[in-house]
Amino acid sequence: MRKKSKAENVYGKNVFVTGASSGIGQACAIAFAKSGCTVTGVSRNTEEKTEHFPGGGSLSLHRLDVTDEAAVRGFVESLPGVDIAILCAGMGVAGPAETTPSEMTRRQMEVNYFGTINAAQPCLTRMRGQGKGLLIVIGSIAGRVSIPMQSQYSASKYALEAFTDAVRMEMKKYGVRACIIEPGDTKTGFTAARVTQDDSSAESYGSVLRKSVAKMASDEQNGRSPDSVARVALALAGRKDPPARVPVGMDYKALMVLLRVMPDKCKEFILSKLYLPKGE
Ligand SMILES: NC(=O)c1ccc[n+]([C@@H]2O[C@H](COP(=O)([O-])OP(=O)(O)OC[C@H]3O[C@@H](n4cnc5c(N)ncnc54)[C@H](OP(=O)(O)O)[C@@H]3O)[C@@H](O)[C@H]2O)c1
Repeated sequence: MRKKSKAENVYGKNVFVTGASSGIGQACAIAFAKSGCTVTGVSRNTEEKTEHFPGGGSLSLHRLDVTDEAAVRGFVESLPGVDIAILCAGMGVAGPAETTPSEMTRRQMEVNYFGTINAAQPCLTRMRGQGKGLLIVIGSIAGRVSIPMQSQYSASKYALEAFTDAVRMEMKKYGVRACIIEPGDTKTGFTAARVTQDDSSAESYGSVLRKSVAKMASDEQNGRSPDSVARVALALAGRKDPPARVPVGMDYKALMVLLRVMPDKCKEFILSKLYLPKGE
């Protein structure tokens, strides 16, 4: 008898991916299409097209803004089925917690939190109706430890951790599973798309904000390939009872274990050293 591959998808072939035009979402969409799935990917700026892969999989890209709740619901309801939803659409805002303008904060939550909920809810309804499904939310290490100069981004990712944990408990009896992948620095379009508060309105922080953002950008652009996140997503699709949260890579897994037992003051010292370079 053929041994079942660990990563063999146990949920079904209809996969829905948000943020599929770039980075992690694109890598996930391609990986699942290559594995034989029928993938529907969405983002705001994409050429609408369908690509077929050897092995029978396909990837169809559509234009959709996840902040448009009615449009997302209508789109998800029109899909033939949603066995797996991978919610990657997101962006980052940087600025001091004290001065980040409310419109930047709202935009951060609108895309990362409400955008994810807008997509998750109709997917969960479809999955409950089917009696099975897997929701994969793309969180971040910043959803486990708050990063200085990224307070609003961190808050949006902490919120997704809370949402996903509740979904796991509520939907388990319907055969629906949920988990959150927590990537660390990953080389994607995220760095260029980051919205940073301008120096003039954060001037009391001197060059700290600029240096901190330069450090984030350099870490991201020297980070892992988005394919590493796609591999984690594929592996989760092979698990009937996936774990609640999965950091990407042994280094981040070890860091998360360490942070769980580390006193808060130690955590703050390390994160401040990393992300609050001395300004002039
Ligand atoms: N890169 C990292 O270091 C890192 C680390 C941890 C977590 N993450 C998370 O990973 C996820 C994916 O980011 P990425 O790194 O792959 O960045 P990316 O390359 O910039 O991809 C972001 C994707 O989200 C889409 N998107 C943004 N706003 C959207 C909206 N309103 N509606 C629909 N789609 C939207 C973008 O397409 P359009 O602009 O065309 O809409 C793009 O496809 C994000 O949630 C991010 O927070 C990234």
